Amino acid sequence: MRTQRIGRRDLLAGLGVGLGVAGLAGGLMAQPEPIGLRAIAATRGIAYGAALGLRSVTEEPALAEAYARECAVLVPEGDAKWTGLHPASGVFRFDGLDRLLEIAVRHGQCVRGHTLLWHEALPEWVRDALPNGRIFELLTDHIFTVLGRYRGRIPVWDVVNEAVEPEDGREDGLRQTPWLSALGPRCLDLAFKAARAADPAALLMLNEHDLEYASPLQDRRRRAVLRLLETLLARGVPVDGLGMQSHLRIGRPFDARILHRFVGEVTDLGLTVMITELDVGDAAVTGDIATRDRAVADHARAYLDTVLDHACVKAVTSWGLSDRQSWLHHHPAGWRADGQPMRPLPLDTDLRPKPLWQALADAFRAAPARTPPAWIPG
Ligand code: G3I
Repeated sequence: MRTQRIGRRDLLAGLGVGLGVAGLAGGLMAQPEPIGLRAIAATRGIAYGAALGLRSVTEEPALAEAYARECAVLVPEGDAKWTGLHPASGVFRFDGLDRLLEIAVRHGQCVRGHTLLWHEALPEWVRDALPNGRIFELLTDHIFTVLGRYRGRIPVWDVVNEAVEPEDGREDGLRQTPWLSALGPRCLDLAFKAARAADPAALLMLNEHDLEYASPLQDRRRRAVLRLLETLLARGVPVDGLGMQSHLRIGRPFDARILHRFVGEVTDLGLTVMITELDVGDAAVTGDIATRDRAVADHARAYLDTVLDHACVKAVTSWGLSDRQSWLHHHPAGWRADGQPMRPLPLDTDLRPKPLWQALADAFRAAPARTPPAWIPG
């Protein structure tokens, strides 16, 4: 990875927009800027935001304030999944997503819906129904009900999540899921077509993981995703863009040329691209907090510079905002040999900006300007 240090000029530029430097011990630790990442990203036409559970903004006032300052986009980490919205057959529960939407509206933010067709976060009753139920009706009813309710209010949806898994051995590279077993590859067509019919103005995304590195497996994944997008478009399926999840991991082989070419290939299909679930795992980095935070920031900066060089990339959302929240704390992917917690997100557990925050700010400032996405509040 290219190493990007924060130089004196960047520091002064940062000070110009209100950065208060608390000290250089522990990396560049800054006091929260009055101007958050959302405003810095907006200067280049980029929408920045982060995922959250509702409790983060209803039970933690300081965190709620940080979301309001830093984010133009909120992504429900669980409230818009089947487990969040559809706990029993015929029973929808909208209170969580309604509440999040109210909060977003209050702060001039928008919500990206996540997600309608995924093999995880399925309640038991759906898993039981999938092999033998009326699956077509089940899926279309869910999508019509949810997008019908939020029509015109949730402008972007991760309609299909993680459809590709070359390791499952299918010729078409699709993941072998209960949905696929029940409906075949047309489950993807169905989901996108139902979403378009339910909210014709919403931007409809395919959201995929592990597209970022130069390993042979990720190369197969990129090829399978491109092939899938091409075939969906050829069949007239209304897919508007690709979400690259971007769960980055230091130590994996990064090649800016390969990544840059891939994003270009997707945009050549006429699609938009978003970074949807950015975080940085540092299990491979030994050393003190300052060393680890610096490595996380440098890794993210090289990645962001490469992807944001494409002006069609209009949004970046991280998977959480503060190290308090990360899913990695509850997942083996987040375990370090020294037992220390991961530090994968822009703010530390005390909500102070970390070098990763600065890397995001610097990458936004360095990115070519673009027309802001039409779906973001003006
Ligand atoms: O709701 C229960 C709660 O009642 C209980 O007290 C708690 C005890 O562990 O579990 C809670 O549910 C957990 C939920 O997160 C809320 O914390 C689930 O067990 C857990 O499986 C769920 O994990 C989420 C996971 O998706 C599955 O939905 C993670 O928070 C969320 O970060 C993760 O996000 C995914 C994206 O959707 C897709 N891409 C990968 C990303 C990371 O896995």
